Amino acid sequence: MRVRKVYLPIVASILCLLLVAGEASAKRFKMAQGDAEGSAQDAMGKKFAEEVARLSGGKHKVKVFPNGQLGSEQDTINDAAIGTLDLSLLAVNNITPFSPTVGVFTLPYVILSLEDAEKLTQGPVGQELVANTIRDANVRIIGWTYTGFRVLTNSKKPIKNVADLKGVIIRVPKNEIMLATYKAWGVNATPMAWSETFTALQQGVVDGQDNPYLTVHSMKFYEVQKYVTNIRYIFSIEPLVISESVFQDLNKKNQDIILQAGKTATLYSAQFLRDSEASIKKDLIAKGMEIVDPANNEQEFIDLATKAVWPDFYKSIGGKEKLDHVLKVLGR
Ligand code: MLT
Repeated sequence: MRVRKVYLPIVASILCLLLVAGEASAKRFKMAQGDAEGSAQDAMGKKFAEEVARLSGGKHKVKVFPNGQLGSEQDTINDAAIGTLDLSLLAVNNITPFSPTVGVFTLPYVILSLEDAEKLTQGPVGQELVANTIRDANVRIIGWTYTGFRVLTNSKKPIKNVADLKGVIIRVPKNEIMLATYKAWGVNATPMAWSETFTALQQGVVDGQDNPYLTVHSMKFYEVQKYVTNIRYIFSIEPLVISESVFQDLNKKNQDIILQAGKTATLYSAQFLRDSEASIKKDLIAKGMEIVDPANNEQEFIDLATKAVWPDFYKSIGGKEKLDHVLKVLGR
């Protein structure tokens, strides 16, 4: 007992020193990205890194590893969940397998504009999904990247109708909702990790895939794909997540820096999309891609997908009422 009393002030001083050192120590965060430089992920990630440096007075730094260098997008969620990776920026469809309620953002034809995406992600719906993702996957969404509608690309032929999809082998992410959507269109799509997709297109293992214009451009898909169809079934949202264990190890001041940087980078991402999508589309045409619109304003695609897919996923997104609520928030 006496020994404890003697050592108590020393222990307290050491703890104080450790706390102060923790407060003062510079952080080096690693961020994984699935997409290449020049992408919406890249723009958002760089803005986030810039803000973390600015808000910490240059003390903390974020190093970005683009182009799947740290593994496939779904693998990075596992790594962040166990705390061996700090940050990952990836498509929301690659988080859904770990936290099914975020699937509401992947249901076909729910998000119909950038404004819809902003309203959902930055409001209470987004906040609930942030909490669910911490609970289910031990990662915290701290920002959102807006990448635009996923358009269909392929190397075989112009696709205008659902019937045109026949015989075209299409890669999709390992995401049940997207697989089911193609099934509703009569296609047994090939689930494949993002990091393997370019090579699979190049080698003709698959003929097509879907992703936004910004992604098609930054990944240089125009080198291996000729035709684009403006299907607008999913608006691509790409969350920036931090390992919850890493986040909880930060002091309050550093947590606030991370959260504030995420908010600023989110707003920046929306502007980046508004500023760049039209010119990127033009450049894809200049590079030889042929862009077509689906016949009849995509109605055939919409009817088949919403009727078959929505009911099958009510349970995984937390009930039909969740989707009803989302549609109500969007004024539909
Ligand atoms: C995917 O298709 O797996 C993703 O949307 C790719 C991405 O992160 O851009």
